[in-house]
Amino acid sequence: MPDSEHKQATCETTRKVIVCVDDDRALLEGLTQQLDAAFGEEYDVEGAESALEAIELIERLYEEGHVVDMVISDQVMPGMKGDELLERLHVQYPDTIKIMLTGQAGLDSAIHAINNAGLSRYLVKPWDDDEFILAVRDLLDRLELERENKRLFQELQVAYKQLVETQEQLIETEKLAVVGKMATGIVHEIRNQLTVLGYAEVIKMAVPDNQKVNEYVQNVLDARVRILSVVDEIRRFARKQTQPYQKDSYLLTEVIESALTIIAYDQDAKRRKFITEYQVEPFLVLNRNKIIQVLLNMLRNAIQATTEDGTITIVVTKNAEYVIIDVSDDGCGIPSNQLESIWEPFFTTKGERGTGLGLEICKRIIKGHSGSISCQSEEGKGSTFTIRLPLDSGDTADNTVSSS
Ligand SMILES: Nc1ncnc2c1ncn2[C@@H]1O[C@H](COP(=O)(O)OP(=O)(O)OP(=O)(O)O)[C@@H](O)[C@H]1O
Ligand SMILES: [Mg+2]
Repeated sequence: MPDSEHKQATCETTRKVIVCVDDDRALLEGLTQQLDAAFGEEYDVEGAESALEAIELIERLYEEGHVVDMVISDQVMPGMKGDELLERLHVQYPDTIKIMLTGQAGLDSAIHAINNAGLSRYLVKPWDDDEFILAVRDLLDRLELERENKRLFQELQVAYKQLVETQEQLIETEKLAVVGKMATGIVHEIRNQLTVLGYAEVIKMAVPDNQKVNEYVQNVLDARVRILSVVDEIRRFARKQTQPYQKDSYLLTEVIESALTIIAYDQDAKRRKFITEYQVEPFLVLNRNKIIQVLLNMLRNAIQATTEDGTITIVVTKNAEYVIIDVSDDGCGIPSNQLESIWEPFFTTKGERGTGLGLEICKRIIKGHSGSISCQSEEGKGSTFTIRLPLDSGDTADNTVSSS
């Protein structure tokens, strides 16, 4: 067959190949014919007259997408000897079966090759033909079996992984279904009660000149909006809703200050020191209530993690792509084996006091702003939660960012 035709034929499917190497042309021909007669239906048999020719041939076969299942090599050849060839091939193709043909004088090399080239068999010249074919058959069958085992093992591993994932999903879905049902009931009730807070507007109108009352009433009205936002987030979470948040351009530091003002009403917050360091003061396109919700979650976690006189620091910086908000505390910190679990829904170390949904909701909100959130913590020293929000979310024109 001309070379080009040969190549075209070989490229189409993966061939399994047996390569024979012997510098004695007549012997090589006899060997390839014998193997071809016995295994020709399943294997292609190729010959090489030297170790270098064999290396080139095997490289080419692999390049063309074929596999060399067996190399049968003579030991004594001009240039590179059989044991060196097999040793080299073993490094690159450890799964290929290697057989050495040797005279009595080459037994030492065979032993060396058993130890260094993963030699499967050696045959002392002259060999018995039937015994030779049986040995080759046996080795090829074993290789197939090993391959099949490996394939089955991989399939089993994939199936097992899928099973575990499905099971986890089922548990999650079940939890969410419970939360969903609960949320629907709670949301309904909270919404009903919140309408009562609408009367605050009436109070405001009744005493338009009392600034103090107006300020308090405004706080109540703002809180109402935020509670609605929290409720809405729980509903989104339970229903796995993913529609985009409504966003506008806000001065980020003003949003942070609003969160700090709200948290200041918390009795425990009064006994913590808050430090802010705004290295940049950018405008960002965001959903104000949602980002306040994230910051309140982070700040509340920080308060709960610190003792009286603990310090909570908010630092705002940026790099080329993101505005970075670090919320740090000098509290109890998080054990390293919990650093991943804290992001899972329902993970809490606060018993009855926590639902374990805070960080899960933060993660969802930040994801809904194309950002990311992460945590670094050292047990006993404190934690830093880092929020990255894109400087340019790039979705729509109203997402453009200006700087103050
Ligand atoms: N700043 C922090 N310092 C130490 N541990 C923290 C901090 N923030 C979060 N954690 C740990 O992560 C867990 C999960 O936090 P997450 O806010 O999701 O839920 P939670 O605070 O327990 O409950 P809630 O639903 O009321 O927020 C906490 O229970 C706590 O163990
Ligand atoms: Mg929390």
